[in-house]
Formats: sequence, C-alpha cells, structure tokens
Amino acid sequence: MRLALVGLPGSGKSSVGRVLARKLGVSFTDSDTVIEQRIGEPIRSYFEREGEGRFRDLEQQVIGELCASRLGVLATGGGAVLREVNRRVLHEDCTVLYLRSSPEELHRRLRHDTQRPLLQVKDPRARLQQLYRERDPLYRETAHFVVETGRPTVQTLVGMILMQLELAGIVDANRVPPPSSRRARTLELGPYTSGMSSISVTPLSGIETIDIALGERSYPIRIGSGLLRAPESFAGVPRSPLAVIVSNTTVAPLYAQLLRDALRGKHAQVELITLPDGESHKDWTTLNLIFDALLAGGADRKTILYALGGGVVGDMTGFAAASYMRGVPFVQVPTTLLAQVDSSVGGKTGINHPRGKNMIGAFHQPVCVVVDLETLSTLPMRELRAGLAEVIKYGPIADASFLGWVEANLDALLARDVATLRHAVRRSCEIKAAVVGQDEREAGLRAILNFGHTFGHAIEAGLGYGEWLHGEAVGCGMAMAAETSARLGLLPEGDAERLIRLIDRAGLPVKGPDLGADRYLELMRLDKKAEAGEIKFVLLDAIGHAVLRSVPDATLRQVLASRCT
Ligand SMILES: NC(=O)c1ccc[n+]([C@@H]2O[C@H](COP(=O)([O-])OP(=O)(O)OC[C@H]3O[C@@H](n4cnc5c(N)ncnc54)[C@H](O)[C@@H]3O)[C@@H](O)[C@H]2O)c1
Repeated sequence: MRLALVGLPGSGKSSVGRVLARKLGVSFTDSDTVIEQRIGEPIRSYFEREGEGRFRDLEQQVIGELCASRLGVLATGGGAVLREVNRRVLHEDCTVLYLRSSPEELHRRLRHDTQRPLLQVKDPRARLQQLYRERDPLYRETAHFVVETGRPTVQTLVGMILMQLELAGIVDANRVPPPSSRRARTLELGPYTSGMSSISVTPLSGIETIDIALGERSYPIRIGSGLLRAPESFAGVPRSPLAVIVSNTTVAPLYAQLLRDALRGKHAQVELITLPDGESHKDWTTLNLIFDALLAGGADRKTILYALGGGVVGDMTGFAAASYMRGVPFVQVPTTLLAQVDSSVGGKTGINHPRGKNMIGAFHQPVCVVVDLETLSTLPMRELRAGLAEVIKYGPIADASFLGWVEANLDALLARDVATLRHAVRRSCEIKAAVVGQDEREAGLRAILNFGHTFGHAIEAGLGYGEWLHGEAVGCGMAMAAETSARLGLLPEGDAERLIRLIDRAGLPVKGPDLGADRYLELMRLDKKAEAGEIKFVLLDAIGHAVLRSVPDATLRQVLASRCT
C-alpha cells in the first residue's frame, strides 16, 4: 500500500501521516527528513545557500525513489507538487490525500515557526495566501482525496481518513487494528466533556459557531438560546430587498413574527409562505405552492428564503431554493431537535416520491444555519424523542464517548434541560460537520450518516409517510442494523444490545411493523443506497465505527423475523 500526503506547510502531513501509518501497521516516511539525512543539514540552510532550484532537484530525486520503493505512508514537502513530474509520479504510484487547510488556519498554526524557509518573510499571512492560491489547484490535481483539516484533532482526522479509504476499498478493513483496540481510540472526535473546541467551536457572546468547511460553499452553524430574537444571529446573510420565510401551519404562528422582526433591518420586505404541516405534504404539490408564491410575489435571483420549521420544511425550502430561477440562497432555521442535529446541516434537500423517500432532490448548501434552542420548548414530546434518534446515531457511527454521554444524560435530554440539549446539538453538529466536510456529495464517508436509514425508510414507505415519524423509523432501523451487525459477527452481541437498550430507553420503537420480509426487501432495494439491486447497509464493527456491507437475504430475513411484531 502506498499512501502519500500533500498539502501546504503546517497542514499536518507529518503528524497525520505518522498516526495513519501506525494505525495501518505500515512504515512512515517524511520526504523532508530523508532529504535532510542526505544533505546532512537542515533544509532551511541548504535552501538559503544553494537556492530553490537545487533543492527541488533533490526533492524530485527523493520522491521518485520513495515512490518506487515499498512505501507505507509518505508525507511530502509543501512544494513537492510544484514540479509536474512529482505530481504525476505521486498520482500514479500512490493514493494521494490532500490535507487542505485555509491560509488563515495555517497562519494561526505557523505564526511562531522559524524553520520553514518560505515563511521567513515580513508578512507570512500574505505569503500563505499566495502559496494557497498557487498550490491549491496543484494539490487537487495530484490528489485522489481532499481531506478538510480545519477542525478535527489528528485522531479524528485519521479516523475519518481510514473510514474514507475503507469505504473506497483502498484500505482493507482487516488491516486496520481490530475493533476491540480501535473502539477506544480511532474515531474519538476529541474529548466530549471539556475539549469540544477540537472542532472549531467559537463561543461568541452566547452564540456558538461550528463551521462547515466546504471551500467557497462553507457556512456557519450558530447555536444558542434566543437566537431568533437576535439580528446578529443572521450576520453574513446577504442584504437582499426581499426575503421569504417558508414555514408551516404549526410553526409559523409560534415563531414567524419573531423571525420577521429579527430580519427587518436586513430586508426591506419579509414575506411568509405557510405550507400544510406533515411528511405526507413533502411532495410536488406542496413544493409548487412555494414556487407559485415566489413567482406571484416577484421573487428574483437575489431573494433569500428562510426555512423555519422541522426537517420537512427545511428539505422542501432547500429544494425550492436549489431550483427556483436555477438557485437562490437560503437560510436554515431549524425548530425540531431532528432538524437541529441533522437535516438542516449538509445541504441535502428534496421531496418524497410515492415510490421512495427523498427520491427527488438536490445538494444545495444554506448560507447559514441558526439553531435557537428555545424553540424546542414547544416541541411535542413524541417529536423530541424522534430527534433523539439522530442524536443517538452519532455515537455508534463515529464517537464511542458520545454514546456514553448520551446514555448518562438521557433523562436530562428528555426533561429538556437546555444546557444538556445544547451539548447534544453541538456535538451532533460537530460530528456531522466533520463528516460532511470530508464528503459533501456522499461519495463514500457521508454514507455512514445513513445508519439505520435503509430499514427506517422501508418502514416509512411501507406504512405510508407520516404514520411513523422519521426519527422513530430511524430508531427502529438502528436496532435492526445493530442486530444485523451482530448476526454477521461484526459487532459483539453485547454492544448491539447496549445500543438497542438506549433506543428503547429514549422511548423509540425497537420492533418494526410486520410488513412481511418480501415487502421490506422490495422497499429496501428501492432505497437509493441500493446499487444494481444490491443493498449496501451501514453497519457497525465497533461502537464508534461504521462500515458499509451488503447483507445476505437470509440474514435480513432472520433480523426481520426477530425485530418485527
Ligand atoms: N436533509 C437531510 O439531510 C435530512 C436528514 C434527516 C432527516 N431529513 C428529513 O427530515 C424530515 C423529518 O424532520 P422532522 O422530524 O423535523 O419532522 P417535521 O418537519 O415534520 O416536524 C415535526 C413536527 O413538529 C412540528 N414542529 C416543528 N418545530 C416545532 C416547534 N418548535 N414547536 C412545535 N412544533 C414544531 C412540525 O410542524 C411537525 O408537525 C423527514 O422528511 C426526513 O426525511 C432530512
């Protein structure tokens, strides 16, 4: 196996490379270290004395030799991609990961650096910006994967990279240390009690901000209490003359006026579209109500839509924004727990089709997400429990510690303790941000967020949308996926039981409706994760680590027989 890391100075190539190599049980080589051994002095002095050209010649030679050898993980110097021959050799001989960081992040990390020759200038920030402009396209050209490094810890990043490589079939899951030893380490997204700042949480006068790093489509998630009353919650949203709030018959009477007042200084005109409430209305007919109102109200390409409501309103408003006049900006203002921890983040938008859930849709990222925890005070208990399903989901797929925290704090969550809810929302968003930042379009890693959803979608479609809440179906789907993982020998039975117990304690169903195994299989094949008729399930091979697997029909029938009433 040959993995190579490229990226600007300070992007973490050496530290990430070292941990990655250790996890994979392969050697780690830093091309700069090899060069220094060869020249017998620091690169900086050689570079100053001999000039960049001589140094690059040497670097090219070393990279060529290393790529031809039995490499494990290779960290390259920041300028290695400047030569076309290096780009080609790396791309052809290795799986190349580009560790992308913004120049601002790099400046923060490197402001005291005295070793890197290119940064020993008067204005290192400007130098980094220039390097980024010049080299980002070259790193992208060389790389097979772009890894956003802005937020997570090294451990997190390595966990994400490993999952990405496993899902792409580049790293054999069996070569990664076994689940028991991985459980405590690989996918820990930083300490969950005090060190939440591991993924760039910036407290800003009571507002906490988590950034979704997607290049020019990056945006903040702002979390706090009373944000709907604070115009600054919407900082950065363009000042268009017309804004349109899209909500529904339940949420609009509760919160539309508050939002309108907060937006007054930003938009001369703020209109409201009120949709019928419910999953059964997440369809073409209701979507057309939005288009009709926008056209009748003279909305143009600068008009901004605000999605005020749960996941249904968010998904439909987002899809309307993606397609109205070929795309207008929109803001997510989620008011259910489920929408705050999941659906408002990540840019998936869409509507249901009678033949399948969310079958028609688009990726369209919001300008920002504003999470006002106070709105949860009016949420019906059943909806709160449904939202907890998605909160619970993040632990088993990515963070064993968080699962433990949810177990310990479930009662406070159910009692709507605001500080506890705040932590749950924040941590969930951090994990979702980390995953979406690596894989915006669900080419690989993002699929893990669908844990429990293949079974869940079949339940929703089989019963008719709206009969079970989405979160209830996901809760039950996670119980089914956990049992499937255990039956396949991937997950210890005790771990599956532990997760099922928590879902049950949250008041969510752990037994599915008896649709008949044939009907379940038919509906699951229709789900969009079925490729060429083969269904890929998100399963667990440890608490805190998800894998994608196809499952024999016989196993699915056993699970359905045991988990349906
Ligand atoms: N886009 C994504 O990535 C993504 C992810 C997960 C789920 N989803 C979608 O989200 C939808 C489910 O979202 P949901 O669970 O938020 O359901 P929902 O939008 O139907 O909201 C649930 C109910 O709560 C009401 N409500 C909302 N906020 C309220 C408040 N503050 N006080 C009182 N009542 C309130 C709503 O009117 C509705 O009746 C599904 O359609 C699902 O497919 C999308």
